[in-house]
Amino acid sequence: MHPQTTDYIASAPVPAELLTDVERAEAIERNFLNLYRRYTQQSQQRRNWHADTCVDWQSIRHDHADAVHTIVEGFFGVEQYTPDYVIPLLTLLRRCYGRSQWHIRWGAEEERHADLWRNTVLALGRRQESWIDSYTYSLREKDYRLPWESPLHMVFYQVIQERATQVSYQNLGLAASGRLARLATPTDETLSKVCRLIASDEAAHFHFFVEIARLLLYYDPETSIRAFVEVLHKFTMPARDIMPGYETFGQTLHDTGVFGRIIYFRDVIGPVLTALCLPPARVLLGMHEAGACWAAVNINALENKVRTLVERNRTHLQSAGLSHLFKSDWQPAWEMKELYEHNDQSSIFRIR
Ligand SMILES: [Fe+2]
Ligand SMILES: [Fe+2]
Repeated sequence: MHPQTTDYIASAPVPAELLTDVERAEAIERNFLNLYRRYTQQSQQRRNWHADTCVDWQSIRHDHADAVHTIVEGFFGVEQYTPDYVIPLLTLLRRCYGRSQWHIRWGAEEERHADLWRNTVLALGRRQESWIDSYTYSLREKDYRLPWESPLHMVFYQVIQERATQVSYQNLGLAASGRLARLATPTDETLSKVCRLIASDEAAHFHFFVEIARLLLYYDPETSIRAFVEVLHKFTMPARDIMPGYETFGQTLHDTGVFGRIIYFRDVIGPVLTALCLPPARVLLGMHEAGACWAAVNINALENKVRTLVERNRTHLQSAGLSHLFKSDWQPAWEMKELYEHNDQSSIFRIR
């Protein structure tokens, strides 16, 4: 039997606050910065590829299905708006050192996605450089606007967007490996590797934003859950409303099983909710309609994950010999003792 909304809003203890609002805000910013430091160190070690030299371009096939060309050109179209994705949010974040540093780094990893898809469009053999130049010019006729002028909402937007992008690229990679039934195209290890490389970046971005979203949910649950539900209600993929030809691109994604509504709920929203220690979408959205969207979070699981994040960040600073210079200690926000003693082990609690 599926759990109902009322199961989650039921009689649960309310954890006492251990930190002031200012202390909780400081904990969020400090751990954002510390995660950025650890992330960039690992990113440089593990995913330091270049769009020109990461694959053998001479071996890519020229006889792919029409849908593959449409999809790759669409992927390039979405990724090439990277300057638009960076500038407006950077303007909002510029006073926060960790957030703005991260945003620039994120943008640097996104711009190489545009470069790699651009190389791929031409290497597939149907388009010439002059075509992609005029395509890019037409794409940039309209500029991208942030879906929310709110850094909080944008974190949750990016959690969903990064996961959706990862799944799309993985599925095209499956098609290129002959493992996606609805998209028959010649097996192509080079195209498959292109997809894997970019998907691994998107997966890393997804995990980064999940960690930040957990920080927000843990240290500021009421505001954060409300923002997440608002994003969930209105989410659309970036550039959908400004990119010429998006209808054809989106329809092709759907028809080939690379991405679509079912995949979105099954492979994107489901894993996002699990990662954020939140109940299933129908329960969460039901709470929102009942005016109680702030009421559900698996606070025990969430605290464990945030604590693990803080400890890993601290280990990074210790191994770098910097832990004596920067604050990196774990700060619980809630008194959990009464919760552990509560006989309801569902771990779903009301939070004030
Ligand atoms: Fe990307
Ligand atoms: Fe990304």
